[in-house]
Amino acid sequence: MARSKITVVGAGNVGATAAHIAAARRLGDIVLVDIVDGLAQGKALDLSAAGPVLAYDCQITGTQDWAKTADSDIVIITSGLPRKPGMSRDDLLTKNVAIVKDVSEKTAKYSPDSFIIVVCNPLDAMTYTAAKVSGFADNKVMGMAGALDCARFNYFIADELGVSVEDVHSILMGGHGDDMVPLQRFTSVSGIPITELLDEDTIAGLIERTRNGGIEIVNLLGCSAYYAPAAGAIKMAEAILKDKKTVLSCCACCDSEYDAGGYFVGVPVILGKNGVEKIIELDLNNDEKTAFEKSLAHIKQLAAKVNKLI
Ligand code: NAI
Ligand code: 2OP
Repeated sequence: MARSKITVVGAGNVGATAAHIAAARRLGDIVLVDIVDGLAQGKALDLSAAGPVLAYDCQITGTQDWAKTADSDIVIITSGLPRKPGMSRDDLLTKNVAIVKDVSEKTAKYSPDSFIIVVCNPLDAMTYTAAKVSGFADNKVMGMAGALDCARFNYFIADELGVSVEDVHSILMGGHGDDMVPLQRFTSVSGIPITELLDEDTIAGLIERTRNGGIEIVNLLGCSAYYAPAAGAIKMAEAILKDKKTVLSCCACCDSEYDAGGYFVGVPVILGKNGVEKIIELDLNNDEKTAFEKSLAHIKQLAAKVNKLI
């Protein structure tokens, strides 16, 4: 059986960490691409040298040459500027549209049958950019945000309750920004609704910390998070490559679903060998619907800016 091939575009913090996790989970051969001379090559060499210790024997190639990415099964786009203290994700839009446009054109040229997982910010607008520029079918382009935001929420809940992170499950909707919509009604600990275990004020505090999870790390580190974001992207790649039918929150194209009208927004989906195989439509209550619509309106504004730039 041929090995799967995963291209990670951008060999910076998120990209190199994603390559490391993909290798450690033995998902396939990996190509790291970057524009900086030697960066992808150096990281690929270092990652390859970790193989004998960690017992992975996939091929890891670092390059500036897109021809080496040809016929990838999955292309993970992490090439983009990250935010610095004082910046919002939206501040990155103009520069990152140009980068994502460029690499999406190359993805379509070299790996026309691949699935694209976008990580760059502002996430929902960059996923929209990759979809429009690549021309790929809607099920083949998706953005990683919900996997990260849910992981943060789950961790904060597990830490508060002193339970295993494996037992906490949550769903978030909307954009990857300050107006993301964590859904406490759909969050449980081994099936027990969190409202049975935590009071309203504590839950509200954990939701607020999740909304600010990215900036909390930027303020501590001086750069953007990368271990959990990379883990989220590889969780999605693994769901597709292993046809796991994983249910998670992901930025996906919604048309009639949630009355979104063809925009990319965070929703619960099933991920399998056909990419986004189904968007799960939850029966949202009025408050949830209002919060989701507010977040979607913001996404539409950013998409309008993207349309002028691509
Ligand atoms: P980084 O600066 O460490 O890495 C980005 C890399 O992309 C750099 O090595 C740069 O040389 C490369 N690059 C730039 N233009 C390129 C091009 N045209 N082709 C190939 N490579 C190119 O940044 P980091 O921390 O890895 O973040 C990457 C992106 O992911 C940022 O936009 C950041 O905001 C976003 N992000 C999104 C998250 C999410 O939840 N969706 C979470 C964390 C980061
Ligand atoms: C995060 O949430 C910056 O989007 C990135 O960590």
